[in-house]
Amino acid sequence: MTEAVKWVVEDAKEKGILWPSDELKRKAWVSDESIYELADKDPVTFWATRARVGLDWYKEWDKAYEEKLPYFKWFIGGKLNACYNCVDRHIKTWRRNKAAIIGVREPFDEPSRTLTYYDLYREVNKFANVLKSLGIKKGDRVSIYLPMIPEAQIAMLACARIGAPHSVVFSAFSAESLKDRIMDADSKALVTCDGYYRRGHPVNLKNNADEAVNGTSVKDVVVFKRTGQEVNWVEARDHWWHELMAKADLYCEPEVMDSEDVLYILYTSGTTGKPKGVIHTTGGYLTQAYWTTKWDFDLHDDDVFWCTSDIGWVTGHTYNVYGPLSVGATQIFYEGAPDYPDRGRVWQIIEKYGVTVFYTAPTMIRMVMGWGEEWLEKYDLSTLRLLATVGEPINRDAWMWYFEKIGGKRCPIIDTWWQTETGGTLINALPGIGPFIPTVAGRSFPGTRHEVLDEEGKSLGIDKGGYLVQKSPFGPGMLRGIYKNPDMYQENYWSQYGNGAYFTSDGARLVKKDNFRLTGRVDDVMKVAGHRLSTAEVENAIGGHDAVAECAVVSAPHKIKGETPWAFVRLKSGEPSDELTKEIMDHVVKVLGPTCRPDRIIFAKAVPRTRSGKIMRRILKSLAKDEPIGDIATIENPECVEELKKLVGYKETT
Ligand code: PRX
Repeated sequence: MTEAVKWVVEDAKEKGILWPSDELKRKAWVSDESIYELADKDPVTFWATRARVGLDWYKEWDKAYEEKLPYFKWFIGGKLNACYNCVDRHIKTWRRNKAAIIGVREPFDEPSRTLTYYDLYREVNKFANVLKSLGIKKGDRVSIYLPMIPEAQIAMLACARIGAPHSVVFSAFSAESLKDRIMDADSKALVTCDGYYRRGHPVNLKNNADEAVNGTSVKDVVVFKRTGQEVNWVEARDHWWHELMAKADLYCEPEVMDSEDVLYILYTSGTTGKPKGVIHTTGGYLTQAYWTTKWDFDLHDDDVFWCTSDIGWVTGHTYNVYGPLSVGATQIFYEGAPDYPDRGRVWQIIEKYGVTVFYTAPTMIRMVMGWGEEWLEKYDLSTLRLLATVGEPINRDAWMWYFEKIGGKRCPIIDTWWQTETGGTLINALPGIGPFIPTVAGRSFPGTRHEVLDEEGKSLGIDKGGYLVQKSPFGPGMLRGIYKNPDMYQENYWSQYGNGAYFTSDGARLVKKDNFRLTGRVDDVMKVAGHRLSTAEVENAIGGHDAVAECAVVSAPHKIKGETPWAFVRLKSGEPSDELTKEIMDHVVKVLGPTCRPDRIIFAKAVPRTRSGKIMRRILKSLAKDEPIGDIATIENPECVEELKKLVGYKETT
């Protein structure tokens, strides 16, 4: 293996900065630094060229960009179909029998299931006809509640084919969470399965689906048979996937969609207790998905790409569906857990399928670091040539470990910063250009502009911590609104600095000219193991338990997960106990799902309040982070702080 990157200690303070080797530069799609300047001179023309070169359009747009903030549009009047771009156009080329999706299952269930582009084409066409046979038309919403099986991608693409926006809900979310999202989207149909395997055991998903659809607008439930377990069945409403597919025609004409027609809605957590439906449209989103996939991961036809995200998150949408499939890549889609049947599973998959580009979250890296190197040493990881991360800030130790142990010091690390709202990556180094700096995501993707501002909106220079914003023209993949909630859209993203800047809710600082280091959320959103959670959602769930009088949830640092929820709980009556702790935790799991389980429940006699009666979350946050508490003069009940310090094991003495 030749060295793909050179380790150059360029800046003592940053303790090492990587630049791409000549070989990496030669192979990379982009290796000329001037791309940034070129794109920045005229971002609209830059993106218009990208849209024209990357995608197939039925009709070219009349105007590339229009901005009436807080709204903006891309490729106005342009017509295309996202599914056609991800599937049909490849089957007209040699890629017809290229592997599109290698669906890897748990070991007892192997061999894996590989779908070529032609297989995918047939399945998607048939499923599009299935949806049509159920009366789904352009504009109708379809909810999808599926685990990591290729039917998830098939269902999403089938929706895109007929112009029905999909709303995918993470399969580990609870029935209640699914119901909320179905109700908000007014979905006409739900696509789910009987169950899936988790660490060898079948999990029943249909039960949750049944509970969720009751009393909603869902008329039909399509159920894929994955495990063959017993399920409840509601005649007339429930249909087996395979039975409908057996009757479906082989071809479905793709709907001609407007560039600004909605491609999907994806619910994510904001600062309120209610998840918000982020709207993504077709032409701009797909342009960003295509080019960020191609350039960030430098995907070529001989690459095998593995993005470990769940399909229920935006990373799964953009980098397990619309990005890799629109560029015609081969991808791994893994159904199982990283530690089943043992802690070598991820490395075994990389070895077995010759994965070349691996994209995961820092939490995963920290977790496998903790499992020890012996698990890696058993496997040949030499096919890897590029590594990438997403979802949360990566600490230096994890970055170095990823670089040295997984990448064998030859792979660049592409730390991609973005959000559900941005649709695709926005800040990261490009593999053929660099630099790759531990803990620093990198530069704005060509054709996008970001700045770090202070509270007043003044642009900050090098090494000053502030707030990250995006400036006009806004990336083509950016959200176009919050479903049924224009006020929240305006309030969340455009009110902080007036209408000129999109507020990301992230802290950042510029290092080395135009490279950004991201420092985490500045609002009440947590990133727990890379999953986005709102403290308010967890508070609402805990508040719904009978024994709880009031509760405040804050984020606490966690060695592996990055952050984790701590809940300060005051009881109505009765005494704290281990049973009650468990009961409250189980209650959260039932209401929201296991990813939202608090790490600690701290039973307090009182929580700090202002004189007007509001909980002082600032104090609780400092307690959780072991940081100085600061001024307590405005607290109505300062005596409770000492009690809380004891309860949490607070050590800070300043
Ligand atoms: O705080 C940032 C963090 O994840 C948030 C967005 O979360 P979500 O919408 O779930 O999307 C995750 C996948 C794109 C951001 O506001 N974040 C994401 N990527 C990074 C990051 N923080 C630091 N470094 C990153 N590379």
